[in-house]
Amino acid sequence: MKVLIVGSGGREHALAWRIRRSPRLTRLWVAGGNAGTASIAENVAVSPEDVPQVLDAARRLSVDLVAVGPEVPLARGLVDRLAEAGIPAFGPTAAAAQIEASKGFARQLMQEAGVPSPQFRVFSDLPSALDMVQRHHGPLVVKADGLAAGKGVTLCASPAEAAQAVQASMTGQAFGAAGQRVVIEEMLQGPEVSVFAFCDGQHLSALTAACDYKRLADGDQGPNTGGMGSFSPPPLWDESLAGQVKATIMQPVVQALAQRGTPYRGVLYAGLMLTTEGPKVLEFNCRLGDPETQVVLPLLETDPLELMLACVQGQLDRTAVKWDSQRACVGVVMASGGYPGKYATGVEITGLGQDDDASLVFHAGTRLEGAKIVTSGGRVLTIVGMGESLEQARFRAYQRTLGTSFPGACFRRDIAASSRLQGDLNWALRPAAAKG
Ligand code: AMP
Ligand code: GLY
Repeated sequence: MKVLIVGSGGREHALAWRIRRSPRLTRLWVAGGNAGTASIAENVAVSPEDVPQVLDAARRLSVDLVAVGPEVPLARGLVDRLAEAGIPAFGPTAAAAQIEASKGFARQLMQEAGVPSPQFRVFSDLPSALDMVQRHHGPLVVKADGLAAGKGVTLCASPAEAAQAVQASMTGQAFGAAGQRVVIEEMLQGPEVSVFAFCDGQHLSALTAACDYKRLADGDQGPNTGGMGSFSPPPLWDESLAGQVKATIMQPVVQALAQRGTPYRGVLYAGLMLTTEGPKVLEFNCRLGDPETQVVLPLLETDPLELMLACVQGQLDRTAVKWDSQRACVGVVMASGGYPGKYATGVEITGLGQDDDASLVFHAGTRLEGAKIVTSGGRVLTIVGMGESLEQARFRAYQRTLGTSFPGACFRRDIAASSRLQGDLNWALRPAAAKG
C-alpha cells in the first residue's frame, strides 16, 4: 500500500513510525512532516491544513490510503474531498468532525445520546450569557465553541472571572470567530483520562487510554499548552472502567451520529473526568491526541493499515484490535524556551541518540538544515520510554531526555510521577458509598 500521512507534529511522526512497520506498506509520504518523518518517509512540501493542496498531492502520488492527523483539515472536509475523488481516507467527514469543531454541537449530541456530562448551556448572545453567569454561584467553565488550538477553555473560580471570560470570547477578542458562541459548564472534579477507539461508522475497537499533562510547569502550574507529556496505560484503567466507558459514552455517541446520517469513521477521542458519580465527558476530539499518540501507538499490536482500511470499509467487526497489556510508555515533551509564548527557532538539537526497545524519539517542531537538525516550533520532541512498568518506562524516558539537548530546552520533571498516580489511586480507593 502507498500511504500518505497528513500533519507535521509528534503524533504524525509516531503514526509514520508505526505504519512503517506494517508488512502491507510499500511507500510512505508525509504531507507537511518534520526532520523525524524525513528519516523514515518522504516529506511532501504542502500545508497540512490546505485541503486542495493535500488533495492534489494524494492524486499525484496515487496513494491507496490517506491518514489524517490534525483536526483542522478534518473539520475543513479533507476526508469528504478525498472520498469524492475515490481515495480511501482514514478520519471523520466534516459533518462527523463537528464533534470536536463545535463544542455546542458536541454537548447537544451527548445530551441526545444520554452520555454522562456536566450541566451546560450554549449562548450566542452576550447579554444572555452574562445574565446566566451573574445568577450563578460557584465555579464555572467557559468554552469557545469553535477550534481554538486547545486554548479556548477558561476555568473560572468566580462569577466575575466567568463574566470576563465570556466577554473576551464573545466579542471576538480572545479567539476570533471561534469564540462568538460559548458553552458554559458546571466545573467537574477528579482525575482526567483520554480514551481512544477506532470506529468504522458503527463498530468500535477495544478502547485504550492515556493521561496527558496540559500545563507547562511541574505540579500543573503555569499556562495551558498543547500537552507537555503523557503516559499509558493509566493505572486505574481496567476492564471494568473500559467496559463502562464503551457502553455509556463511546457507543451511544457513535450510534447517535449514525442515526443522524453522519456516521463516525476514524479515531474517536473522549477526554473524561472520573468524578465520584462516574466518568463524564469533558470533550470529544475527532482524531488521535498529541502527545498521547506517542505513548499509545507503540502499544498497538494490530497492523495499523489493516485497521485503518477496516474503518474506511465499515468492517471493523472483522478485525480484532489488540493493545499490548504487558508494557507501558511514558512520553516527555521537550519544548522551546518561552513556549507557549514567544520562542526562538533554528536552534541546533544534539544528542538525539538511537531508538531501541527501551526508548524512541518522536519529532514535532524540527527541520533539517544541511546535516543539522534544528528546532522549528514550540513543542520540539516527545521522548518516549518503554518498559514492563510505568516506573521503568519513566526512568528510560528521562534517561534519554537528559542526554538530548538544545539551548533553552524545557520539559516537565513530573510526567508519570507518583504524585499523579497517587491521585488516581485515591479515586479508585474512594469509599464504596461514593461509587454510586
Ligand atoms: P477541553 O479542551 O475541553 O478538554 O478542556 C481543557 C481542559 O479544561 C480539560 O483537560 C480539563 O482539565 C478542563 N476542563 C474542561 N471542561 C471542564 C469541566 N466541565 N470541569 C472541569 N474541568 C474542565
Ligand atoms: N493532548 C490533547 C489533544 O491532543 O487535544
